[in-house]
Amino acid sequence: MKKSSVLVCGGAGYIGSHTTVELINAGYDVVIVDNLSNSDRKAIEGVCQITGINIPFIEVDCCDREAFRKVFEQYEFDSAIHFAASKAVGESVAKPMLYYRNNLTSLMNLIDLMCEFGRHNIVFSSSCTVYGEPDKQPVTEQTPRKEATSPYGNTKQISEDILRDAVAATEGLKGIALRYFNPIGAHPSALIGELPRGVPQNLVPYITQTAAGIRECLSVFGDDYPTPDGSCIRDYIDVVDLAKAHVKAIGRMIEVADAPRYEVFNIGTGRGVSVLELVTRFQEVNNLKLNYKIAPRRAGDIVAIWADPTKANDVLGWHAERNLDDTLAAAWAWQKNLETL
Ligand code: NAD
Ligand code: WQD
Repeated sequence: MKKSSVLVCGGAGYIGSHTTVELINAGYDVVIVDNLSNSDRKAIEGVCQITGINIPFIEVDCCDREAFRKVFEQYEFDSAIHFAASKAVGESVAKPMLYYRNNLTSLMNLIDLMCEFGRHNIVFSSSCTVYGEPDKQPVTEQTPRKEATSPYGNTKQISEDILRDAVAATEGLKGIALRYFNPIGAHPSALIGELPRGVPQNLVPYITQTAAGIRECLSVFGDDYPTPDGSCIRDYIDVVDLAKAHVKAIGRMIEVADAPRYEVFNIGTGRGVSVLELVTRFQEVNNLKLNYKIAPRRAGDIVAIWADPTKANDVLGWHAERNLDDTLAAAWAWQKNLETL
């Protein structure tokens, strides 16, 4: 049976493109909007190739309310997923106004238009960054949010609050904030994946670009942290698993009438992996040698964080399924395939 339609804002991006594939696989129709500020049409082509469906794509800036309204006038959908945001932590420190304007205005426009057109369900891309440096591991949804250490992180906290308050004030509106841990990997087809612009700031794209010879050497930022091997610990979640969490969230909002109207879920594996461990796994699974060196700590890095995903497991019926080795093999396959796209 054909399910309802979902508006995917930022659907040309890394997580949005993978989520679109999983929504289509689950029987939903999708409409994608994106201003391509951090993505490429090729991602849309990849999604269409994987799914065999010509997915409607409208190039629009969600901050341009009148242009965005036309999408609501033209398309029927009852749910929306809001990926459309700027996401580089360092850049947000240098250009805070750009981050506050883009991340908050786009979300507020979406909420306003959803209310104006009587559409019901919003999933928001939040982040484990809202926890800062936690006092206790793993973090649950009850772990207190710490004061944000970057404008980017602050936009995630403020956005969660905006959505919570809008839902509380609007009959019929529902919201789910998914707090992603560290998304990595790519679709097994290697037709879509992460497309960092310029020098990658995140670990796995830096690793794959180093393995491909685009970067000379990976710097491991710090080996003197109070962790078993001295490097930082994160919860690396496969992007396809993460995409499936959105499908579960949409399903819950549509199907479970008595669910709380605003909910928050951690989306992680529940397993902490160190930088050095990840580098070792990448080399072994892909049978290659990575050029890397130990470098000084990176300012602002937290020592360790990993999720307690019990709530998502129990309430959403979602579990991280792919193992780290498969995920790192997919990341490398995507990097190699990029040259051919
Ligand atoms: P991405 O940059 O690949 O995707 C975001 C997409 O939104 C891009 O295609 C970009 O062009 C688009 N976009 C940005 N501003 C827009 C606007 N005003 N109007 C229309 N489109 C706009 O990033 P991603 O990694 O896929 O992240 C998706 C979401 O998840 C973001 O909100 C990000 O903050 C959040 N998140 C990402 C991570 C991560 O590590 N990748 C972790 C936690 C949370
Ligand atoms: C992971 C680990 C680095 C690059 C960021 C955002 C966070 C969230 C996810 C959106 C750290 C180390 C990295 C390198 C390295 N995004 N590293 N050498 O910092 O956990 O989180 O992305 O919400 O908000 O802050 O991810 O991939 O940058 O780093 O040693 O070249 O890899 O020090 O320990 P991070 P990351």
